[in-house]
Amino acid sequence: MKLGPTPKGGARTAQFSGYAGSTNTKVQTLADISLKDLPRLCSGTGEFDRVLGGGFVPGSVVLIGGHPGAGKSTVLLQTLCKLAEQMTCLYVTGEESLQQVAMRAKRLGLPTNKLQMLSETSVELIGQAAEMLQPKVMVVDSIQVVHLAEIQSAPGSVSQVREAAAYLTRFAKQTGTVVILVGHVTKDGSLAGPKVLEHMIDCSILLEGSHDSRFRTLRGSKNRFGAVNELGVFAMTEQGMKEVSNPSAIFLQRSEDIASGSVVMVMWEGTRPLLVEIQALVDDSNMGNPRRVAVGLDQNRLAMLLAVLHRHGGVLVGDQDVFVNVVGGVRISETSADLALLLAIVSSFRDRPLPRELMVFGEVGLSGEIRPVPSGQERLREAAKHGFKRAIVPAGNAPKSMDGIEFVAVKSLSEALAAIE
Ligand code: TYD
Ligand code: MG
Repeated sequence: MKLGPTPKGGARTAQFSGYAGSTNTKVQTLADISLKDLPRLCSGTGEFDRVLGGGFVPGSVVLIGGHPGAGKSTVLLQTLCKLAEQMTCLYVTGEESLQQVAMRAKRLGLPTNKLQMLSETSVELIGQAAEMLQPKVMVVDSIQVVHLAEIQSAPGSVSQVREAAAYLTRFAKQTGTVVILVGHVTKDGSLAGPKVLEHMIDCSILLEGSHDSRFRTLRGSKNRFGAVNELGVFAMTEQGMKEVSNPSAIFLQRSEDIASGSVVMVMWEGTRPLLVEIQALVDDSNMGNPRRVAVGLDQNRLAMLLAVLHRHGGVLVGDQDVFVNVVGGVRISETSADLALLLAIVSSFRDRPLPRELMVFGEVGLSGEIRPVPSGQERLREAAKHGFKRAIVPAGNAPKSMDGIEFVAVKSLSEALAAIE
């Protein structure tokens, strides 16, 4: 089958002109383009919609990436079973058998009588089935097992993944179907990963979370219809993926007496703040090459910050193993964690706990200066809302005054270290 200029359901095509794969060649001025708002299809999960920027846009292609076992199939099955109650939805499974998927849906107690299922790996046949059914939303699980007959190489190779995704993207644009592709992120590179097709899709979302934690985060890394870096938080439970609408409360479950090396910071992901605990353990190393291990944070940044701590803070941990961790399996990619990280390290090194009601954020520069970060006041307000009484913040972020929280505004690392003396 070839997707011609006017596929079945061609009447729906015109509305989506302008996308890759569309056949409309009319030239017009920017002002003439109709700004009719594209209607959004709500996924039925607040956290998912937040990451999408308010729901699926018809005709868009969304890639859900993540390590095998992250929960991609589970979250999509839950979403589609619910969506199918209102519109035609198709779930194409190339990895699991229909029985396996059905058993999972039954165990999770999902509504199963509306969702259309197809077990198929040939992209052409998937396209044919979808043209007949005309679903509003279609999931292809996963892009790495499907293949096109005209490409010689094996499923999962770069050319298969790229061409299969291009085919399904054309299908989405020409019919207005929302196409959701599942892509595994693998370490050994034996499968072509989500990066291969990131340029052609509209929205790329990563499902992350460590195996030893039940929390999973959905993070948008590319979104043509909304903000990126929005974070949705889920918990993997016996009943499948459950959304967590107040994540700060969960990541902050701390015991009554706080040990040294623990400090709380406020992350700012997309449009909302999130309070997380950062832990550090600094211990005498009995190896020639002391270890620096960062979980949930960037390893290189840790090495850089330790150098700044030595040079500008006068704290030398060169003969110590340094382990840092973000509690709850969250990943922090912003620099506002720098100061909290260094204070946690110093607290552990000196074996002196920091006050329970203290919150810290700020970027640390190479010359030991503390730089302001975006949305400083909102971060402070969020901490105050959760009962934090004290804060150490960059001088550039300090408001004139704020009720309910007392803060120390610092310009340099040495000032910050003095504040915790
Ligand atoms: P899955 O959605 O199959 O992952 P992916 O499609 O990303 O490879 O999720 C598999 C993992 O989730 C598996 O390790 C078991 C766990 N799980 C639960 O803990 N509870 C559940 O209800 C389900 C369905 C899975
Ligand atoms: Mg799966």
